[in-house]
Amino acid sequence: MSVLIKGGRVVTAADDYVADVFVEDERFSLVGESLDVEAERVIDASGRYVLPGCVDPHTHLDMPFGGTVTIDDVESGQTSAAFGGTTCHVDFVIQGRGQSFADALDAWKAKADGKQVIDMGYHMAVTDLEEGGTLEELASLPEQGVTSYKLFMAYKGVLMVDDETLYRAMEVASQSGALVMVHAENGDVIDVLVKEALAAGKTEPIYHALTRPPEAEGEATNRAIQLAHLAGAPLYVVHVTCREAVEPIARARDMGWNVWGETCTQYFFNSLDDIAKPNFEGAKYVYSPPVRDESNWEYLWNAVRTDALSAISTDHCAFLWDGQKTLGRDDFSKIPNGGPGLENRLHMIHEFGVRAGRITLNRMVELLATNPAKLFGLYPRKGTIAVGADADLVVFDPERRHTISAATHHSRSDYNLFEGTEVTGSPEVVLLRGQVLVENGELVAQPGIGQFVKRAKFGEELKPERTSAAA
Ligand code: URP
Ligand code: ZN
Ligand code: ZN
Repeated sequence: MSVLIKGGRVVTAADDYVADVFVEDERFSLVGESLDVEAERVIDASGRYVLPGCVDPHTHLDMPFGGTVTIDDVESGQTSAAFGGTTCHVDFVIQGRGQSFADALDAWKAKADGKQVIDMGYHMAVTDLEEGGTLEELASLPEQGVTSYKLFMAYKGVLMVDDETLYRAMEVASQSGALVMVHAENGDVIDVLVKEALAAGKTEPIYHALTRPPEAEGEATNRAIQLAHLAGAPLYVVHVTCREAVEPIARARDMGWNVWGETCTQYFFNSLDDIAKPNFEGAKYVYSPPVRDESNWEYLWNAVRTDALSAISTDHCAFLWDGQKTLGRDDFSKIPNGGPGLENRLHMIHEFGVRAGRITLNRMVELLATNPAKLFGLYPRKGTIAVGADADLVVFDPERRHTISAATHHSRSDYNLFEGTEVTGSPEVVLLRGQVLVENGELVAQPGIGQFVKRAKFGEELKPERTSAAA
């Protein structure tokens, strides 16, 4: 299938120009002014932005968590992503206790089989290096295209690892070519605070936030940075929410250390006011680390503008409010942690980042596509518009008005973290490797079109696959 996208404003992390884009055999094959080529399909992109498909480096689909399973499986989560202009994501395999990494990976790949709407990779969440996976097996994962290890410093008794496990995984990563990711909150301290709150009869959702203070995030972030430096491993701190955590990341980056940080869409918009909503509505905003006070919002915008933080993900981990969040009606610590977000990252960051003048269009592309692709071994196949790269692309109408709502989103969640927000600017057509995924408000491709991507090792490039012998 060949496609000619005519006359759009092509925006990458580095460039911004009007051009035609010609796609052939799933790749960008020509980019230029007034291209004189025959195509099976022509898309008029005049007045539109032509953006690389966005890459979400942090999602949880079909994940058992908090006594239940996330409501979005691979098909519904990726459909939601496609409507939001995301064409590739990296999801987390969670190693069960006593489980080998190979078995965990097989189990997660089986969940995706036949359901994939967009392309995807996996991070490995390491939970057990004693009775489950061995250090040797962990070291072998990057050869299989799983080039990042995630360790949870919180969720005591469930996913949390001790410093020995964290440090051993970092040592392996320093040799194997993996990037270490951490959920940085001090799980031991949080456990004490949660027990104290419950003992005092404090059961409402707001106590989720009050028992996970910014200091717990700042301490764990700094600890992970120092340990990674000692081990010689590159480090990526996920879902950073506050000044206490940004500061050590910024300091490490100033010193030239291999440290990067990500924040998520919701941390710019949700606050303690949301989690304090009455009648258990606050449970919709229970995720970890928690919502912070509003003073952090502009601080985070400044951090993504100045590259103290280098990516924005969604941490999509969707549950129903009615039936899943309600598991914790009488005890905030039983509310499944997480919220939906895959569909609205581009909407929200374009509206309140670009249109509000906080970041440039180029920086938006960098934060939502190029940097995630580079850090997670997908670039230059993903994350940019360049000859030879996968033709993952968003024709984005900057004038199209859209009201975000659970009534129209494609996640199975019964609520939206940004309910009722009006944005100007929305994806119009979305292409995955040159095939039209979304058009006229419909998903036009069949599940199964998405592929598992074997990612490159940290710091290496993922070369475009050759599709013909002559290429
Ligand atoms: O609350 C959250 N973030 N749920 C997903 C798991 C995690 O910590 O990333
Ligand atoms: Zn986390
Ligand atoms: Zn997460």
